[in-house]
Amino acid sequence: MKTKTELMIYRDPTELAERGSVVVKDVLTNAIAARGRAAIALAGGSTPAGLYERLAALSVDWSRVDVFFGDERAVPPDHPDSNYRMARERLLDRAKVPPQNVHRMRGEDADHERAARDYEQEVMSVVPRAGDVPRFDVILLGIGEDGHTASLFPGTKALDERVRLVVPVWSESKQTWRLSFTFRLIDAAARVMFIVAGAAKAPVVCQVVSPEKRSFLPAARVAPVDGTVTILADKAALGMA
Ligand code: 6PG
Repeated sequence: MKTKTELMIYRDPTELAERGSVVVKDVLTNAIAARGRAAIALAGGSTPAGLYERLAALSVDWSRVDVFFGDERAVPPDHPDSNYRMARERLLDRAKVPPQNVHRMRGEDADHERAARDYEQEVMSVVPRAGDVPRFDVILLGIGEDGHTASLFPGTKALDERVRLVVPVWSESKQTWRLSFTFRLIDAAARVMFIVAGAAKAPVVCQVVSPEKRSFLPAARVAPVDGTVTILADKAALGMA
């Protein structure tokens, strides 16, 4: 079993959002056609916002899609920094995704351990498994300038988690707690899709796309055991503009 990597290059963030949203729509539609339902995990941060808006306008049978989150900040769901709030405003409300299909992380729970365990249970109870690990049809991820992805930050012990699927992560650089999928869950996905834009990301993106895979940056360590890594990037993020 091998990881396949595909790179899709777009002129700018607008084209990335326009055409990237169709790629996501096709993955969801194909999964629904194959097994009657689809399971997606959304990325946080700012880069996916435009793509979510376009995706909301495309025809997807959201009654058959289970929507999860790959990570969350330690804030309430209506907080400006909430990944859930961004996704709700840009995608979930616009696409009228049935609330019972939306599984948000309880970032506001001060007991981060409990919030992580509860979410792991929710993933296990909804997403079908390949072996003993739930297998998402697609997990959307961003990439930070320090090479983090989801909330797997460089130097954190979450990077070495081999058993758990969701963990709390203390980010020294951001001085805050996060909840995050681990590599065990990410690498069990059928497809992992990076959404990345802007020249500031170029130094790390080149390590993610390089076939040698010599980098230890968290984003470069993503390697679905039996799946595909799709990188949706604009030219600037590849140092081409
Ligand atoms: C988060 C994310 C994180 C994000 C990167 C890129 O909660 O911050 O999930 O992994 O994807 O930090 O963020 P931008 O898209 O804002 O550059």
